Amino acid sequence: QTSQVVQVNGGGQSLTADKIVNMMPVTKRNPKDYIFGKVIGEGSYSTVYLAKDIHTNREHAIKVCEKQQIIREKKREQVRREKDALNILSNSGSSLFVKLYCTFQDTERLYFVMSYAKNGDLLPYINKVGSFDAACTRFYSGEILRALEHLHDLNIMHRDLKPENILLDHNMHIKVADFGCSKILEQTDAVDNQSILDENNPRQRTNSFVGTAQYVSPELLTEKTISPSSDLWALGCIIYQMIAGLPPFRSRSEYMLFKKILNLDYVYPDGFNADAKDLVQKLLVLDPNERLGTKDDQRYTSIRSHPFYNGLDFDTLHVTNPPPIY
Ligand code: ADE
Repeated sequence: QTSQVVQVNGGGQSLTADKIVNMMPVTKRNPKDYIFGKVIGEGSYSTVYLAKDIHTNREHAIKVCEKQQIIREKKREQVRREKDALNILSNSGSSLFVKLYCTFQDTERLYFVMSYAKNGDLLPYINKVGSFDAACTRFYSGEILRALEHLHDLNIMHRDLKPENILLDHNMHIKVADFGCSKILEQTDAVDNQSILDENNPRQRTNSFVGTAQYVSPELLTEKTISPSSDLWALGCIIYQMIAGLPPFRSRSEYMLFKKILNLDYVYPDGFNADAKDLVQKLLVLDPNERLGTKDDQRYTSIRSHPFYNGLDFDTLHVTNPPPIY
C-alpha cells in the first residue's frame, strides 16, 4: 500500500506516505473529498461504502448513517459508542482494529471514514471450507485473542464479537470491526443494568441488549454485571465455530437459544481437536469469573499458554504470513 518512502537523517528515520498524510493540516473533510463506490456492508441503521479519497487515492470503507433513521430507531447511543471506541483504538496505534480516520456530517447523514479491509469478513471463509484446520484456527483465534488483550487493557469490551465482525485486510490479517455495542468500562460500571431477559416476560429484551444472540454470554442474559469476560465467552464460541463449522449454540427460536446457553447445552462433533476442545471448555464456563484468563495478572497469559497454542509466537503474529485457508 505504502509506495513512496522518503529517507531523511541519513536513513535513520523514514517518512512513509502514511506519516506524510498524518502530518497534513487537518481540515474537516466532506463527501466531495471521496468518490463513493460499491456497498460493502449494511447494518440496521447504516450502509458501508467502498470509497476513494480523491486527494490520496487511498481506498476507505465509509460508514454512512442516516440521521433520521438513527433518531427513529433510537440508535444515537450506539453511534456514539462506536465513535468513542474507534477513536480510542485508532489513537492506540494497533493494527488489529479497523482504524477511524475521520468523521464528518452533512444535513442528513453522518460519515465514518475507516480503513478498508479488502478481504471482507471471516464468516464466508469458515462457511466455504466447512472447518478450519488446526493451524488456521490457532492463527486466527490467536490474533483475536491479541485483539481482546489490547481492547481489555484499554477497558473496552466489544460485546458483539462474532465472525462477521472480524474483517480481513489485504494480507489476511484480522481487523476487528463494529463497535456499536461496545462499552468503555469505568469503575462505576461494575453494576450496570445490562440484563437482557426481563424477569416478567422472558421473551422480551431490555433496550440495552444490542449484541448477537448466538455469541451472547449467560451473564449478559441473566445478570446485571458486565465484564470483559463476556468477550472471552464469544471467543470460545468462535473457536468452536472455526473447527465445527457452526456456532455451538443454535436454535430456531431466540428463547430456546437463550435456554441452551444458560444450560450450557451444546455438543462437540466427532473428531473435534482435543486441545481445542479443552480450551473451548475452559472458555465456555457459565461463571464469568471462572473462565480461563479472567484471573490473569497480565492478559491473557493463561490462554496463550494453553496447549492448543503450543509453538505459536503471539508477539510476532502480525508479521507472520497467515496460514492459507482451505
Ligand atoms: N464492511 C464493513 N466495514 C468494512 C470495512 N472497514 N472494510 C471492509 N468491509 C467492511
